[in-house]
Amino acid sequence: MDSKNIYVGLLGCGTVGSGVWKVLNKNRELIHNRAGISVTVKRVLEIDPNKTAAAGVPESIVTSDFSEIINDDQIDIVVEVIGGTTIAGEFLREAMKAGKSVVTANKDLLAQEGEELYRIAEENGVDLFFEASVGGGIPIIRPMKESLTGNRIEKIYGILNGTTNYMLSKMSAGGSNYSDVLEEAQKRGYAEADPTSDVEGYDAARKLAILASIAFNTRVALKDVYVEGITRITARDIMYAKELNYSVKLLAIGKEKDGEIEVRVHPTFIPQNHPLASVNDVFNAIFVTGDAVGDVMFYGRGAGELPTASAVVGDIIDAARNKIKGTTGKLLCTCFDHKTIKNVGETITKYYVRMKVTDRPGVLAAIATVFGNQEVSIASVLQKRNIDNIAEIVWVTHDVYEKNIQDALKIIEGLSIVEEISNVIRVEGE
Ligand code: NDP
Ligand code: HSE
Repeated sequence: MDSKNIYVGLLGCGTVGSGVWKVLNKNRELIHNRAGISVTVKRVLEIDPNKTAAAGVPESIVTSDFSEIINDDQIDIVVEVIGGTTIAGEFLREAMKAGKSVVTANKDLLAQEGEELYRIAEENGVDLFFEASVGGGIPIIRPMKESLTGNRIEKIYGILNGTTNYMLSKMSAGGSNYSDVLEEAQKRGYAEADPTSDVEGYDAARKLAILASIAFNTRVALKDVYVEGITRITARDIMYAKELNYSVKLLAIGKEKDGEIEVRVHPTFIPQNHPLASVNDVFNAIFVTGDAVGDVMFYGRGAGELPTASAVVGDIIDAARNKIKGTTGKLLCTCFDHKTIKNVGETITKYYVRMKVTDRPGVLAAIATVFGNQEVSIASVLQKRNIDNIAEIVWVTHDVYEKNIQDALKIIEGLSIVEEISNVIRVEGE
């Protein structure tokens, strides 16, 4: 095979950047043999010299000046693994305008500015690849854009955040409480320094926005996604989930029906026999339903140095192949439609509702009447403990409109016999 050289500018040498450096060097010969291309990192942009030193990057190729990359005509591919939406976005835009293909792992930027970035890539005939932005090392963007392109995608269920999946798995396994498992996730380096975007669901929502845009061929931005995090999940909800044969997951859900789509991220009860129920710890998985293929599931590590680098390096090799063949800019934006994104009130699902009520005759019937009047049909009821004449009741509904259950709960909350509505969790996957 003829050998060709492709030079790369690497922006950022933190967790992912150092992984990219390591994988490209460790598997250099294998990559060359497979792709017929020598991929060389020519410059690494990093502001913290300790990071490049720790990764083993020679000082001679480290720079803190982006112009040394953008003005180097030998560099064909720029890899952005700095993160954030400010400087990273500027660097990506400049690189594409200079005719360089770009690879990024930056879900924040893509969920927010994906449309503009794609437009710049198209205008300049360069590749914009971002496999690592969803599901870390799991191949999902390319399969959605290529292997599954003959399918109409009906549904996506994703466990897209490792931190919250780790926390929910530990809470389910050991009955540990929320703050203890969050501390453990932070100690193990899964959670962000500020874990708000993990536990409040925004990290998963960004990933869903990217995935849904591809699956449903319409632009979905972060602001379009309905988001609820896991902060209100308690050991009691997990106990009831088990009793009802469910697992609790922070699920990213995308559906298309009759030309309308819904996109939401929230804690969800799924049946214990659903394939996603056994995705535990820091692992991620994406369960996709296509009209031809049926159900397919992608599973693996959604974060970490080498798994994420695996996806970034795959993109680099693809962009390098395109450069060599002169076929850059062929797999660009597929958001050719403008579909309506449903308001969450219009979505239909089942619900688990846990509440505390006065324990006396007629209470159950009074609440059931309110549900009935609002067209909320009940599938099962559990009554558990009674402390000081206060009973805990758990209701599971059939499929209902979100707005109907919300209306019912507003009325129920106002009844004098109701002490509190302790939690409401959606049920999917049956
Ligand atoms: P890190 O914070 O570990 O690495 C980013 C690096 O870029 C840091 O070393 C930082 O230095 C450096 N940096 C910041 N500003 C500049 C600048 N202006 N010029 C040069 N270097 C700069 O982040 P990660 O590697 O974890 O994440 C990178 C991207 O990958 C993010 O978009 C993230 O969302 C995404 N991602 C990360 C995953 C993971 O497992 N970590 C998984 C999937 C995606 P300093 O620390 O001194 O600021
Ligand atoms: N904090 C993220 C997670 C890292 O827990 O999945 C990967 O985006």
